[in-house]
Amino acid sequence: MKSSVVILLKTIIRIACLCPFGLLVLGALTPSGLGPDPTAHIELTTGYTTLMLLTIGLGITPVRRLIPQLSWMIKFRRMLGLFAFFYATVHMLAYVALYANFDVQQMLDDIAKRRFITMGVLAWLLLLPLALTSTNWAIRKLGGKQWNRLHKLVYVAACCGVIHYWWQVKTGVWLPLPFTIAVVALLLARPVTAWWQRRKVRTATAV
Ligand code: HEM
Repeated sequence: MKSSVVILLKTIIRIACLCPFGLLVLGALTPSGLGPDPTAHIELTTGYTTLMLLTIGLGITPVRRLIPQLSWMIKFRRMLGLFAFFYATVHMLAYVALYANFDVQQMLDDIAKRRFITMGVLAWLLLLPLALTSTNWAIRKLGGKQWNRLHKLVYVAACCGVIHYWWQVKTGVWLPLPFTIAVVALLLARPVTAWWQRRKVRTATAV
């Protein structure tokens, strides 16, 4: 793919990823722009966007394996991951400021006693080393193999994010289900598409 097209697509994706944040800022600047419960609105938007971006990012590897013509999608994975971390951080900071009012004792109590908060913090902590090692320098320093191994943590983080979502919705609410199906399918897709790719290579070399 031409580098000018990649730059254009990157700009479009960057703008799309910034839209939820931009809408939140705009809402905060207009009277009742964030609805009757601004705190819940901010948590919903940022939490949902984090999961959405993580899920899309996880989908890139299986899609590349199944459709080699779409291999260029890999160029956008790092950006999606960094935006996911950005929204997870805004989501966590919104909790620190709006739910816990910067009360360290309350935060520690929440982490110890409210399992959905514990799971959310775990998800964020798993994303942290991935964001810190997203630079070309870190990839060189760690070496491709180590880096790839470390970045598999994104699957664990996505699972923690989904569990965190289930643990905070009321009984009978099924909103986390689509994400659960998507993340489980993508987890299973990894070995299946790897097998498919190996099979294609074997068939090609046999001919
Ligand atoms: C990868 C990390 C995370 C993901 C993907 C995530 C995702 C979500 C999602 C989807 C929601 C549901 C929003 C709704 O429907 O109202 C939510 C709610 C929430 N999350 Fe997270 N979250 C993450 C990390 C965290 C962290 C680190 C904290 C706090 C330390 C946190 C605190 C909360 C709170 C307080 C709510 C609102 C619960 C309520 O309205 O009762 N989350 N999160």
